[in-house]
Amino acid sequence: MADVYVDGKRVTMSDFYVNGIHVIVPDNKKLIRFLRDDMRLLSVKNGCSEGACGTCTVLIDGKPSRSCIPMTDRMEGRHIVTCEGLTAREREVYAYAFTACGAVQCGFCTPGMVMAAKGLLDKNIDPTEAEVRDALKTNICRCTGYKKIVEAVLLAGKLFREGSAVPACTLKGVVGDSIGRVDAPAKALGEAKYCDDLYFDGMLYGVARRSDYPRAKVLSIDTAEAEQMDGVVKILTASDIPGKQKIGHIQQDYDVMIPIGGITHFLGDAIALVAADTEAHARAAAKAIRIAYEPLPGVFDMMEGLKDEILVHASVGTNVLAHEHLVRGNAKEKIKNSKYVVTNHYSVPPTEHAFLEPECAVAMPEGEGVRIYSGDQGIYQTQKECAAMLGLPADEVRVTAMMVGGGFGGKEDMSVQHHAALLAYCTGKPVKVTFTREESILIHPKRHAMEMEFTTACDENGYLTAMCATLVSDTGAYASLGGPVLQRACTHAAGPYNYQDIDIDGKAIYTNNPPAGAFRGFGVTQSCFATECNLNQLAEMVGITPFEIRYRNAIRPGQVLPNGQIADETTALVETLDAVRPIMERNPKAGIACAMKNAGVGVGIPDTGRCRLEVKDGKVHLHSAAACIGQGMGTVQLQMVVETLGISPDQVVYHEPDTALSPNAGVTTASRQTLFTGEATIRAAKLLKEAALHAGGIEKLEGQSFLGEYTGITDKMGSDKPNPVSHIAYGYATHVVELDDEGKIARVIAVHDVGRAVNPIAVEGQIEGGVVMGLGYALTEDFPTKEGKPLGKFGTIGLWKANQAPAIEAVPIGKAAKDSLAYGAKGVGEIATIPTAPAVQNAYYNRDGIFRTTLPMEGTPYTRKKR
Ligand code: FES
Ligand code: FES
Repeated sequence: MADVYVDGKRVTMSDFYVNGIHVIVPDNKKLIRFLRDDMRLLSVKNGCSEGACGTCTVLIDGKPSRSCIPMTDRMEGRHIVTCEGLTAREREVYAYAFTACGAVQCGFCTPGMVMAAKGLLDKNIDPTEAEVRDALKTNICRCTGYKKIVEAVLLAGKLFREGSAVPACTLKGVVGDSIGRVDAPAKALGEAKYCDDLYFDGMLYGVARRSDYPRAKVLSIDTAEAEQMDGVVKILTASDIPGKQKIGHIQQDYDVMIPIGGITHFLGDAIALVAADTEAHARAAAKAIRIAYEPLPGVFDMMEGLKDEILVHASVGTNVLAHEHLVRGNAKEKIKNSKYVVTNHYSVPPTEHAFLEPECAVAMPEGEGVRIYSGDQGIYQTQKECAAMLGLPADEVRVTAMMVGGGFGGKEDMSVQHHAALLAYCTGKPVKVTFTREESILIHPKRHAMEMEFTTACDENGYLTAMCATLVSDTGAYASLGGPVLQRACTHAAGPYNYQDIDIDGKAIYTNNPPAGAFRGFGVTQSCFATECNLNQLAEMVGITPFEIRYRNAIRPGQVLPNGQIADETTALVETLDAVRPIMERNPKAGIACAMKNAGVGVGIPDTGRCRLEVKDGKVHLHSAAACIGQGMGTVQLQMVVETLGISPDQVVYHEPDTALSPNAGVTTASRQTLFTGEATIRAAKLLKEAALHAGGIEKLEGQSFLGEYTGITDKMGSDKPNPVSHIAYGYATHVVELDDEGKIARVIAVHDVGRAVNPIAVEGQIEGGVVMGLGYALTEDFPTKEGKPLGKFGTIGLWKANQAPAIEAVPIGKAAKDSLAYGAKGVGEIATIPTAPAVQNAYYNRDGIFRTTLPMEGTPYTRKKR
């Protein structure tokens, strides 16, 4: 370490080596900041800056290490390697192994995983699976369930050991082929660009000053001192918003900033925005803004909220955001006359998405408006809300999608985009807004906590007769998607079974807790837990197995679901049960649960997928605004084009969504994109094919575009049709959970009716990731709050690690015809998480006789101390 003088000041410099280059660092900073900001080694991802996620993993003197913890002055003389420093052979092998094994989904964890793998394989080129899992145990992946990452590391080791060449792909890329994802190699090597990887000349950094109280009246905002601080360019308050002060998906109740005189709704409310030359300067200035408040009592319990004594949104006049009452037949009468009846109360907690990429957006002036780079679940939704806030026509707000480092529903709402857009609009400069992990955890909507009372009845043979249920959900400070989430919880509460009498009453309640909204399963994750657990108690009363009661009641084609919809010919719930029958016969103590989940928004709401194919330079360029949040949408669309046109994958060029180029394909939600935008893609390809036939070849269509569109027509809630079509398609699943002798999860078998798997390895990956998320929901994950303040951090909310995840067998099945919509594909994104928790509950009940009604379950080897 050397002391030198810079501008008359003594500076201690540290020198070390990065990817073989000797570097001298004059100012002491976190290693990750030096690697990313100064060296632009952008494979080093910032997932938490708390040492808890592993996305920033690099090798320091050959040892996998977090780069977000050590300072550069601790690196003296050390050798650091990032993905950019891999040899050509290593790049080839890791990119191939991770792509071929399907180990890359959102990809945000992947470069860190690759470095952890290199750390292991450099020392042990022939590791066991357990050694691989141990080596990866400090790297969290929220998408994959780890299985395919472990397989990728083992494959990389084999290729290195054998010195063999990386095999060429021989697949045609048609529907049904497990080709590698279009973006997997770039993601594996850290070359794919997420929002935080964007740097522009003169770019400012935006930070919000957030409320100090979950509920308080803002009396005054004093920015004078903050404005004088180093690097500060602009400070904005609500009076600077040129357009709408409130935005939101369905209800526009989300304050862009709380104005003077306004009342805060939760601790994440923004009161002022700062733009400065560095993020550190912006954060320091945000802290220095003086805000005077009149603190007010808040409501933090949904049952208290129901009393309407304190109103979270006074203008609404009640804390009830949404009320659903679904009635078919006469459930109460049927229950009275049924042989067996069970009633249980279930409590499930809020949970955190914990996607690995914290929210980030970069906005800059463009034309009369702004351009926003965003990693979200729907660029047109971002355009709509930001344009409303800026008071601009939609076409003056251009939104370009970057890679999305996981979403799971948590990136459907505005979080950073509107603030980046406003700051860029008002400063005339590019502005980046990136959440810290703490902000991410506080601000984006969670999975709803619910209190549920379910009564289910059956006859003497175990055939279901009726069910009544009440559900109350804590929807937190803002509407977000709390209404539709409650609706799906209610519409699916009776389960995938053939009976007709239901009475289901649900309410979503505003509180001053962090908002709740969309999260994989969209309310069904909660109500399925209650439905399935009740079923097992009925089975016990009847004297049949949990498998048998499901088999007897499972919905079959042509039968009528409890919501009145007739199950179509592709319905394969029974087949998912048949697939697990041998396991249940061999191990009657295994836990079992079933589920159904809609694909598409449904219930009469306009729902359209779109895709535009353009012929350019003799290739087919694919433009669609369907967000890929890790599920592999680009690859699905590519395979559909290849299948329809009979061309090879390298003749198709996939483009990231951009409102200036891609038609609106709706939000990536409700497991809808493969079905809706997939079908739209096929339609566009058919138009192109026909034109090519007439023209004498695709190359003759140079410059021409072909727009495909598919709109799902469904019946609205409360339709008076006897058999309304609520949704275009339903996926079905059966999960089985086996415990080992110590009571740990040994194996999960997840059989899913996916209609037809477009890319089987990608479907398996969705299922495996969903299962591990479901295990977390069942056994470890929680999101405790006190007076609206989250108590958990990324490292303490109970996420599963590579060395905890059990063996998972993902079995996609289906019987959809190839000429069905979207070549028979149904969505699988959400349902993979839904039946896991009740299957786990059943496995523990079979082991210890305790019927657990709360999540995460207590009294298991996974039980953690309450905070
Ligand atoms: S960013 Fe370093 S461990 Fe998460
Ligand atoms: S692929 Fe691992 S977090 Fe998304």
